[in-house]
Amino acid sequence: MAGTSVGLRNTIRGRLTTLGKMGASGLVERSEQLAILTQAARALVDGAGRFVNLVGEAGAGKTSLMAATADRLEHHGVSVRTAAADETSRHRPWAVAAGLFPEVPLADAGPDPIGTALDVLERAAAVNPVALMADDAHWADDASLDLLGAVARRARTLGVLLVTSTRPHPVPHRLRRMEETTAAAGLRIDLRPLSPEAVAALVEARMGAPPGPKLSAWLAEAAGNPFLAVELPASLAAEHRLVVEDGLVDVS
Ligand SMILES: Nc1ncnc2c1ncn2[C@@H]1O[C@H](COP(=O)(O)OP(=O)(O)OP(=O)(O)O)[C@@H](O)[C@H]1O
Ligand SMILES: [Mg+2]
Repeated sequence: MAGTSVGLRNTIRGRLTTLGKMGASGLVERSEQLAILTQAARALVDGAGRFVNLVGEAGAGKTSLMAATADRLEHHGVSVRTAAADETSRHRPWAVAAGLFPEVPLADAGPDPIGTALDVLERAAAVNPVALMADDAHWADDASLDLLGAVARRARTLGVLLVTSTRPHPVPHRLRRMEETTAAAGLRIDLRPLSPEAVAALVEARMGAPPGPKLSAWLAEAAGNPFLAVELPASLAAEHRLVVEDGLVDVS
């Protein structure tokens, strides 16, 4: 690396370290969070349930981290039930919970649909460890949030792992209450922006070469948002505006 500046050398070293740590999940700079979630998976197999909320801005990597967590849970023999809310869910009672409890006709479950769902969950968890994952819970309908809140409060006694993901703002009142009432059994994981080294490693993994100076300057505008770090080079490539020169991919 003769002739390379120390700053550049450190950047390259940082990127190589980040690439090396990417692991099977394909995620950069999320090993700490994955380790916590893997620990939660192991604890679940030993009968200890809990509530984990993944918090991050749009594109921060919530769905990706959930998917990697689901892989680990399944690897540990856990039955994973997943559902995701979208912008329309708020107006559809039980929209999210119905995906998590397909065997419970929640809208027609009599006077106590939440109690019925909890009984079903308790029976399922007695047979095999169960994890419930609700992505984009900030969009969930109130009925589903009430049920998720009940699961969160009983996560320990039920021996169930509940993982939700939310954007940080605005947090619906019911979700805030879930966080407050489950402080002891709950855990919040914040998905922070990626470092410039991690963004460069992500580009290298996807484009086959690290970003050159012009592309790096554009990427800096993305402020470490993984979605933008993926989409910006992809859309430039689609417009044939990327070239590889001297081992770097850059804007032509
Ligand atoms: N740590 C990471 N390493 C590599 N790629 C990542 C990482 N986090 C996210 N990505 C990529 O960034 C994009 C956005 O990630 P993802 O969909 O998980 O974000 P999100 O927080 O769920 O967004 P939204 O709020 O819109 O649902 C995806 O293409 C994903 O593969
Ligand atoms: Mg998502």
